[in-house]
Amino acid sequence: MTKIKGFSKLNKEARVDWVISNYLQDPKKSLRLLKSYWHSDDDVQKLHDEFVENTITNFFMPFGVAPNFLINGKDYCLPLVTEESSVVAAMSKAARFWSERGGFHSQVISTIKTGHVHFLWHGKEKELLSHFFEKIKPLFFSQTEHLTKNMVARGGGIVDVLLVDRSHLEPGYYQLKATFETCDSMGANFINSLLEEFIRIFLAEAEKSLDLIPNKIEIIMGILSNYTPDCLVRCEATCPVSYLPHDKNISSAQFAAKFLKAIRIAEIEPYRAVTHNKGIMNGVDALVIATGNDFRAIEAGVHAFAAKTGTYSSLSHAEINDDNFRFYMDIPLALGTIGGLTTLHPMAKFSLQLLGKPDARTLMMIIAAAGVSQNFSAIRSLITTGIQKGHMKMHLLNILNQLGASDLEKEKIIALFKNKVPSHSAVVKAFEEMKEGMQP
Ligand code: MEV
Repeated sequence: MTKIKGFSKLNKEARVDWVISNYLQDPKKSLRLLKSYWHSDDDVQKLHDEFVENTITNFFMPFGVAPNFLINGKDYCLPLVTEESSVVAAMSKAARFWSERGGFHSQVISTIKTGHVHFLWHGKEKELLSHFFEKIKPLFFSQTEHLTKNMVARGGGIVDVLLVDRSHLEPGYYQLKATFETCDSMGANFINSLLEEFIRIFLAEAEKSLDLIPNKIEIIMGILSNYTPDCLVRCEATCPVSYLPHDKNISSAQFAAKFLKAIRIAEIEPYRAVTHNKGIMNGVDALVIATGNDFRAIEAGVHAFAAKTGTYSSLSHAEINDDNFRFYMDIPLALGTIGGLTTLHPMAKFSLQLLGKPDARTLMMIIAAAGVSQNFSAIRSLITTGIQKGHMKMHLLNILNQLGASDLEKEKIIALFKNKVPSHSAVVKAFEEMKEGMQP
């Protein structure tokens, strides 16, 4: 096994050298590849190198845009970072469709985030702990003013701190459950710093409390929760049933009925719900990444929310009332538009500029619309043509790039598959035949 001490202390060239000489067969080729992804501007590269530890190069992802989004009456062109073909096209298609039918309507339902101090207390009289907590509760606010001052000035801060008894789940397990308003920042650092300060205050006061001493408090940890069901946004799109897609194979009314069934299946069948929600996250994550937000936090929180009843279910829903089709989704999105990567990463900054420098609430509403648009397009394809037709068309270019096709060769193969679903093997075969000089 190849081991090294002090890897992080090496400079970048030395790190690259070590990785290549220990793990790669063609050092020259690997070095050329890694270096080809270094940014030509040293300052930009340095910025990226300093985001994380042990960097050796950059990993590019495509940055696309989806125009024609009408959200709450305002036009947007959405920045999307995704590697998956079809996602941008699907969103653009849905955006255009709904922009001609009043657009997406989003509203923020709540913006509260939660964090906990998880601790053990094995005292016999629960009242002792609750009296102690009530006595010291104001200190969680007064003794943390140095940390909350700026946030309070922006309209946020600590909302509440509660003592929660979870000892029925695990002997002696209690929590300080704290709620926060973090305005335009995602708030992870703010919340975690406060929780650690709560621990200090809690322990210091417990030391002074003669009643509690025999039953010492044992702190396990203090950490924010990425489950944010109270940081919730709703997005919906509505139109008369007769305005829904139709063609010679399906009427608008049939489309509506089939669409509702597809949603119903995602509501009741977890296998389908996971894929259905994955499609929603195709749109959500693309924007979350483009704006420098934490997509792992969003993913974790969203899927927990999808399982809030105990059964994993669809995030989106649909109904028909008086011949009016309504498609809507509630989704928890704890986002920031200041702080973290949102202000540091030049492309995240660009994305926020492209969106008109939204505050966090507006960004929640935009990103929810991104999810709804992706979901609408996916269901629309699934219940009509199937997804492979559109998907493989986009994928065709990826296959041709993998095969190293020239622009002319790409043109010829794309023309060949104009009216066909291009399977991977069919493309490879056509390409090889063309290479051998045969007519494609
Ligand atoms: C593919 O990335 C996403 C879909 O599978 C979503 C869905 O099935 O609803 C098309």
